Amino acid sequence: MTPSAEPRPDSEALSAYEKAGAEAIDPRCIPQSLDSPPPVGDEIPYPAYTDEDHANWRFLFERQMTLLPGRAGEAFLDGVRLLGMTPDRIPALSDLSRRLEEATGWQVARIPGLLHEKDFFTLLANRRFPSTDYIRGRDELDYTPAPDCFHDMFGHMPMLTQPDFADFYQLFGQAALNAKGADRPRLERFHWFTVEFGLIRQDEGLRIFGAGILSSKEEVVHALSDAVTVHPFDPERIVEQDYDVWHLQDVLFVLESFEQLVEGFRDWTRRRGLLD
Ligand SMILES: [Fe+2]
Repeated sequence: MTPSAEPRPDSEALSAYEKAGAEAIDPRCIPQSLDSPPPVGDEIPYPAYTDEDHANWRFLFERQMTLLPGRAGEAFLDGVRLLGMTPDRIPALSDLSRRLEEATGWQVARIPGLLHEKDFFTLLANRRFPSTDYIRGRDELDYTPAPDCFHDMFGHMPMLTQPDFADFYQLFGQAALNAKGADRPRLERFHWFTVEFGLIRQDEGLRIFGAGILSSKEEVVHALSDAVTVHPFDPERIVEQDYDVWHLQDVLFVLESFEQLVEGFRDWTRRRGLLD
């Protein structure tokens, strides 16, 4: 899941999503506000998926899992195992929620699609991961501009089993609720270059932990190629780095550890007065 910003009149403060959204016409990409609290954990029923839905999950899961050894970070691959994801069927959000809760105290909230920022950040701040439960159609297996449960479940949830990442993501939600003006697009860039497109250095070399890369066939091959310029993790630099949501990423940032992520974010948000 990716937050979507409230419309803001000041074009200087427009986020990359808003700028891109001005040209988008896909109704699934229009952010919604929640009119009641979303179901959480065991409150979430298992949808009546069709055979084609399960077949689409299987296709996407097997394709990514074939590409990921040697590319995805250890924490992500451990998370896939810990959450019990298999190609056989679309996982139940209630099962994923239970396993996440055992691992790091996070739960899953089922949401209807792209959310307005405030709802999205409020859930994160309460250690609840907003996830859709519908899957993209057969005609969108390579790419979908809209949220779907392959990205949300497979891309995002495994990293929430990593304790430092799990703590960082809650802090992110808390800081984002406090952010105003130019700090809002700064935080959106931080989210983009870590949660969605982050790399980490392991003993064996660079590995991927960002959900936007790990749930995409093209990004996963591109991210570790020579076509990408990789910078060391530096919050001050990340928050000023522009990006384009519609093309393969050509600049990425690499963490040395997940402790560096949580500590670096804590320091930056303290300096900005966003967290105590
Ligand atoms: Fe996402």
